[in-house]
Amino acid sequence: METEIERIRGLLDIVEESVENPPKGFYVDLDMSRFDIPKLFWLMGFERGVEIGVCKGKFSHALIAGNPLLKTLYSIDPYDTYQPAEADYLFKDNYEEAMEKLKPFLDDGRCKFLKSPSFEVVKGASADLDFVHIDGDHRFKSVLADITQWSEKVVSGGVIACMSFYISSNGMVKIKDAVKHYFSLHPEIETAFLTQRDSRRTIFWVKP
Ligand SMILES: C[S@@+](CC[C@H](N)C(=O)[O-])C[C@H]1O[C@@H](n2cnc3c(N)ncnc32)[C@H](O)[C@@H]1O
Repeated sequence: METEIERIRGLLDIVEESVENPPKGFYVDLDMSRFDIPKLFWLMGFERGVEIGVCKGKFSHALIAGNPLLKTLYSIDPYDTYQPAEADYLFKDNYEEAMEKLKPFLDDGRCKFLKSPSFEVVKGASADLDFVHIDGDHRFKSVLADITQWSEKVVSGGVIACMSFYISSNGMVKIKDAVKHYFSLHPEIETAFLTQRDSRRTIFWVKP
């Protein structure tokens, strides 16, 4: 019977093969959930990354707990942007919940928390990241700006991931449009991967 790590190794084989020989349809569906991403990053040897949009800290926690090689995760969230005013109370709760969830990793230094919007932090970020996971401000311009600016901070062979690859019915969330627009400007990206086990799929690609 296939072990968990063999399953992830199988996913990595598909990723590597697709990057080497890009498929005609561009997109590759992977039989995985976004919670397999930390282990994939482990097998890819990733040591430094960023999560944009932390909320209650669930995925930042997963990124660190699932990857023993990860030395530093910069977790970035201002807890004060674009949401409706009545969300103030929620922001406070979410921030406190994130601090509690991430406490072991804040204490051991693997998580560096930055209470600031991504567009402020990117200005001073060094260009040596293995990955960036984008799940912050979901409006078209903001997603496009995050992908464009943060991709420059990722090393060749690193990964850019965006949760969730969709457009909301009220038109406010346009992640899918923003990602596709970015691809149209970057023909050097020849394939991208979608997590099939999620209702809102994560899309990711390897930086050429
Ligand atoms: C969907 S939640 C993130 C969930 C988290 N990634 C997870 O999977 O557990 C989106 C978060 O993005 C944050 N956000 C909004 N604008 C942002 C920005 N410019 N930079 C960073 N985070 C932002 C919000 O405060 C909110 O907490």
